[in-house]
Amino acid sequence: MICLYMPAKIAIIGGTGVGSKLEKLPGENIQIDTEYGMIPGRISKHDNGEIVALYRHAKGHKLPPHKVNYLGLAQACQLLNVTGCISSAAVGSLRRDWESGTIAVCTDFLDFTFRNITRFEDKVVHTDFTHPFHIHLNQTILKAASIQGIVLNNEAIYVGTNGPRYETPAEVRMFRQLGGDVVGMTIPSEAIAFKEIGVPYSCIAMVTNLGTGLSRSDLSHAEVVKAMDNMGDSVLKISKECLNLIKNEMS
Ligand code: HPA
Repeated sequence: MICLYMPAKIAIIGGTGVGSKLEKLPGENIQIDTEYGMIPGRISKHDNGEIVALYRHAKGHKLPPHKVNYLGLAQACQLLNVTGCISSAAVGSLRRDWESGTIAVCTDFLDFTFRNITRFEDKVVHTDFTHPFHIHLNQTILKAASIQGIVLNNEAIYVGTNGPRYETPAEVRMFRQLGGDVVGMTIPSEAIAFKEIGVPYSCIAMVTNLGTGLSRSDLSHAEVVKAMDNMGDSVLKISKECLNLIKNEMS
């Protein structure tokens, strides 16, 4: 029998503050067996398709940014045949006009992690990065946000650092001078893993704090987690709306 019904399927990668929300979505836990190890996730069914929740830092936020299984997350999405992956990321702002609470869809990145993430260790493959984030998925996210009444900036350059420490004030000034809008520790590595394997990938960056030196107070992880609470809900709303839009495109 040929099954003509193909459900829309979106993966959401929950980073700081969103992973814990994803763990509570109704649905069932799954384990995806990848070349890079088991990836735990959760599938939740909705009227217009399925959301696959993946946890960047593993359940309970255990993995630091330099130990995240980026290649495993990307392959898990490929094996599950997702239509696209919406990643969420807590970020510091490199610009004073983007305060805590600002949300933006990433359009490019500067990679200062020097992690050399690749699935092509033993053969020569040079992947095109003219569009580091998926253009059509970015547009779908912007449309979904507008339907949901969520203000989302349509352009952001993400600067990736290796961490796990936060930046110095001089680094923040330099990153801004180089053209960065936001700074975090994960997205370039993740975007590389997804691009190399060919799964459409976008990132919603959520500003939790002004970059070091731009604010009067020192920076703490607790501040970052606290600021994520409301914005994490926005990511879920946008992702569910994306499912509706993708389903409509498919039918
Ligand atoms: N720097 C790096 N990563 C971050 C920050 C920051 O200021 N805020 C949230 N994640």
